[in-house]
Amino acid sequence: ENDILGNLPLHGKKVLITAGPTYEAIDPVRFIGNHSSGKMGFEIAKAAANLGAEVVLVSGPTHQKASHSLINVIPVVSAADMYQAVHEHFNTSNVAILSAAVADFTPKEVAHQKIKKKSDTLTLELGRTKDILASLGAAKTNQFLVGFALETNNELENAKGKLKKKNLNLIVLNSLNDKGAGFQGDTNKVTFIDDAGNITENSLKSKADVAIDLLNKIIEKTDA
Ligand code: CTP
Ligand code: CA
Repeated sequence: ENDILGNLPLHGKKVLITAGPTYEAIDPVRFIGNHSSGKMGFEIAKAAANLGAEVVLVSGPTHQKASHSLINVIPVVSAADMYQAVHEHFNTSNVAILSAAVADFTPKEVAHQKIKKKSDTLTLELGRTKDILASLGAAKTNQFLVGFALETNNELENAKGKLKKKNLNLIVLNSLNDKGAGFQGDTNKVTFIDDAGNITENSLKSKADVAIDLLNKIIEKTDA
């Protein structure tokens, strides 16, 4: 085996990552989605691969490209698809980082034909999707599990609540109150909260640098 690769800190580790939005079908031509660009997750994948990890990147629909021999992209569309793909890889993973903006609700029924504008109003009935991250928290054995939290108010409290409730090792808080942070764009401002209660605030950085900070934090916590 290649000596240079063998010295990288994540060599021999499998890192499972989710990225992007999910699309929940309404009818054959329409869906419910969100504005996630997928950029944060793809940057994490790239950084992990550069550190020697074998990366499985389960991604909803995005324009992002991953071109690294250690990244295996599994494209999915809906929250249900993402749930299935993630569970196929979790057992054999060492680290899982769930950065996708998964739909919380999905249409209860998908119309088989295009819905026509017959009436003045249209009501869709939505049901809850499965929480992928929480399901991994319940299933985990030795995996280091990382979630994201997108908050607009009571940020720290809500993020700590998610860390605990979903049985995570680390949560990355994304506050939409911070300028330059969030969904679209190339920068992000995040706070790391770990299961020991340590809080690390970071400055506004490129998403590429946020990804490197996150992986360094994970390496420090797992002493990989
Ligand atoms: N998540 C997931 N599956 C879902 C919903 C969310 O895996 N069906 C993950 C996200 O990828 C993220 C974390 O859960 O890592 C938190 O997502 P967020 O939307 O902030 O929180 P929710 O638990 O969905 O709660 P709410 O949207 O009500 O704040
Ligand atoms: Ca949510």
